Amino acid sequence: ESTLGAAAAQSGRYFGTAIAANRLSDSTYATIAAREFDSVTAENEMKIDATEPQRGQFNFTAADRVYNWAVQNGKEVRGHTLAWHSQQPGWMQSLSGSALRQAMIDHINGVMAHYKGKIAQWDVVNEAFADGSSGARRDSNLQRTGNDWIEVAFRTARAADPNAKLCYNDYNVENWNWAKTQAMYNMVRDFKSRGVPIDCVGFQSHFNSGSPYDSNFRTTLQNFAALGVDVAVTELDIQGAPAATYANVVNDCLAVERCLGITVWGVRDSDSWRSEQTPLLFNNDGSKKPAYTAVLNAL
Ligand code: XIL
Repeated sequence: ESTLGAAAAQSGRYFGTAIAANRLSDSTYATIAAREFDSVTAENEMKIDATEPQRGQFNFTAADRVYNWAVQNGKEVRGHTLAWHSQQPGWMQSLSGSALRQAMIDHINGVMAHYKGKIAQWDVVNEAFADGSSGARRDSNLQRTGNDWIEVAFRTARAADPNAKLCYNDYNVENWNWAKTQAMYNMVRDFKSRGVPIDCVGFQSHFNSGSPYDSNFRTTLQNFAALGVDVAVTELDIQGAPAATYANVVNDCLAVERCLGITVWGVRDSDSWRSEQTPLLFNNDGSKKPAYTAVLNAL
């Protein structure tokens, strides 16, 4: 196969990218994105601050720009993200307690209604666990509404769009030995045992010298899949973009039947949120990096 999307499709998977609405007018960017990928995640446009800038006033202008571009170019869409401690609008940052809990529910309902039946996977909750060795929940205004905020988000989401796969998404959960991985595993196991509606776990996979790729990532994916959820690599970028590491990640996903696909977090290095790490598959001029060829060959 000659593109990442077509190559991934050979095993029934997708290969996606994050898309930024304001880059779609860049023809080099749009040409690569349209050609290579068959799944799209809005890099920022579906986040809480973008979609509900004032309480109860939803704005899907930028989100729809990404969504419509994706659909017009034949791609599926991952929704990102409905409940998160970061990129909250000011009005939400200042809420707490039952008012914040209700605002979260209203937000999930408002955004999911707009895209009902149109989103393959939703990242319902993003980054709810703390870094480090505690295995605790991350402190946040949402966490302070009560430990059940995550399951409430998932139950709300299931009712709002029964056709979307509902994912929990986080970073530094790729290494099986990390406390954060174990904490997330215990949550998913508990949710499955109690019937909380969760369908998938997203592993962001922002690998760098501080949180490097480890070959036990495959074990992590397998162990989560064995709980009865799908898994996905949702925001892949790797510092320096070593071809061998990119190939390892692809092979890890391919080794796990329930691994749905891989999304890289941007197109060219210059599009990356960590552009100084040159972590992506395309050079700034749009040419393919060695990591691109390694991924294509591994798929
Ligand atoms: C990042 C975007 O890439 C940046 O443009 C933005 O300034 C901050 O957010 N985890 C996530 C993503 O779930 O939403 C983040 O995206 C990267 C880390």
